[in-house]
Amino acid sequence: MRKTIIAGNWKMFKTVAEARELAKSLVDGVKADLGGSALPDIVVCPTFICLPEVLTTVKGSPIAVGAQNMDYRDSGAFTGEIAPPMLTAVGVSYVIIGHSERRQFFGETNHTVNLKVKAALKHGLTPIVCVGEALGEREENLTDSVIKHQISSGLVDITEEEAAKLVVAYEPIWAIGTGKNCEAAEANRVCKHIRDAINELYTHKDKKESSRVADMIPVLYGGSVKPSTIDEQMEQSDIDGALVGGASLKAEEFLPIIKGGAKRQKISASRA
Ligand code: 13P
Repeated sequence: MRKTIIAGNWKMFKTVAEARELAKSLVDGVKADLGGSALPDIVVCPTFICLPEVLTTVKGSPIAVGAQNMDYRDSGAFTGEIAPPMLTAVGVSYVIIGHSERRQFFGETNHTVNLKVKAALKHGLTPIVCVGEALGEREENLTDSVIKHQISSGLVDITEEEAAKLVVAYEPIWAIGTGKNCEAAEANRVCKHIRDAINELYTHKDKKESSRVADMIPVLYGGSVKPSTIDEQMEQSDIDGALVGGASLKAEEFLPIIKGGAKRQKISASRA
């Protein structure tokens, strides 16, 4: 049984006071509306400066906290960066790695993604590894090959045992913040493609049986997820949750999305 995960990426929004207020509304909302439900894993990823305040606010609730990025080194003279042990020391448990905005605006590459994934695993942080194609790549029918390359180069020198601890998010760049949702069936197909690519990576040529490691890895969809889209997304065979941007910034939008995740979690729990 794979976990269902609903994660909110708050990007560069919210002051500390605003982040505290949003986190408090989510804690209260989850308790009030979803108290008795089989909850999905819920993660919120505020800016670095808000992490301690949000961690304090969600303490004792089912909400976990993730960072949106980190450096791959343990410490050093790297002005402006945040190291993995600094995140674990305050209680952060997830980290988003290789978001398309980091690749696009901050020079991240599949190589730095690989270094960061290794660093996250070394420090016991769960990496949410983002992959996805640009519009031009989709139009040229390159989606599957671009994603396969992002996966294989992002996971270089990561053992099968370590790979089992990953979360992957499929975020087509053209669907991020545009209101243009990738159709659920197509998103499902690509999430399955990601799973197959990971399994293939860990299938050794001399073994007859193929690796099934990715069958247990949650693959999330991200890109204009809204309360109105979540139910169809959560009905798909290979979409195990959502990585939500804009709609995670308001409790009244994020809570119904968590509820959508709870439905999937309940169904998969009953199948297990
Ligand atoms: P939107 O939900 O705003 O499209 O953002 C998606 C995203 O980038 C989450 O990481």
